[in-house]
Amino acid sequence: MLTVESLTKSFAGLRALDGVSFDVREGEIRALIGPNGAGKTTAFNLITAVTAPTSGTVRLRGVPLTGLPPYRVARLGLARTFQQAQLYRTLTVIENVLLGRHMHGSSGAISCGLALPSAAAEERRAIEKARECLDRVGLRNKDEHVASALPLGEKRLLEIARALATGPSLLLLDEPAAGLNDRETETLGDLMFALRDDGLTLLVIEHHMRFVMRVSDRVVVLNFGQKIADGTPSEVRNDPAVISAYLGSED
Ligand SMILES: Nc1ncnc2c1ncn2[C@@H]1O[C@H](COP(=O)(O)OP(=O)(O)O)[C@@H](O)[C@H]1O
Ligand SMILES: [Mg+2]
Repeated sequence: MLTVESLTKSFAGLRALDGVSFDVREGEIRALIGPNGAGKTTAFNLITAVTAPTSGTVRLRGVPLTGLPPYRVARLGLARTFQQAQLYRTLTVIENVLLGRHMHGSSGAISCGLALPSAAAEERRAIEKARECLDRVGLRNKDEHVASALPLGEKRLLEIARALATGPSLLLLDEPAAGLNDRETETLGDLMFALRDDGLTLLVIEHHMRFVMRVSDRVVVLNFGQKIADGTPSEVRNDPAVISAYLGSED
């Protein structure tokens, strides 16, 4: 579904990502792991076209994503969450999810401003869809809460709901379990399995080894911008290069 080929990104002489290749198969939960600073978030930013690569290519179902603006990448079925939740703090929970739905709207400023029936019907459909997404992540009863008032675990779920509202086929999650307690982490893992059962493919960055071992089908390991291992959780866990990369870091 996703092919990453020889992806490289330099920042003023620092190779944050150095010739990394891997793929993601349809219907799997694929993990991208590695110590702090390994280049994981940089890889997400390149895949979602938030930043341009120095060299290399990214393809979604064979379509090159390099050079497209991020909204075009989103329309092709790719959605993400961010390491630091990027919510509109003063908007309500459902309003945040509606923003994810925005790209499916076709009514312009004039038909909305005049409250034409077509615009009103579109808004009703968008709200219905946003409620479904909140239901999916277990936040349906918080739809009128202000986003900033949610605990961290629910902020992350809200970000996932907003990403789901775009109707993705591939969902990228950047450290979704960071800062969550054990119960919240378990809920998140269950949600990821449920989303895969719904037909989604997931690529998840994680730090937290036990979580990765539980949820992922295959794991790519980065260290200092380079891929050092790629395999099943048990293959990767027993790989000497991976063990020494993690032992050599604070993780
Ligand atoms: N915009 C940037 N400018 C300069 N250096 C950056 C930038 N983004 C990331 N880096 C550097 O690239 C390396 C990889 O960062 P990152 O991809 O965030 O790592 P990870 O997500 O694996 O912790 C780090 O050394 C980081 O400081
Ligand atoms: Mg990161």
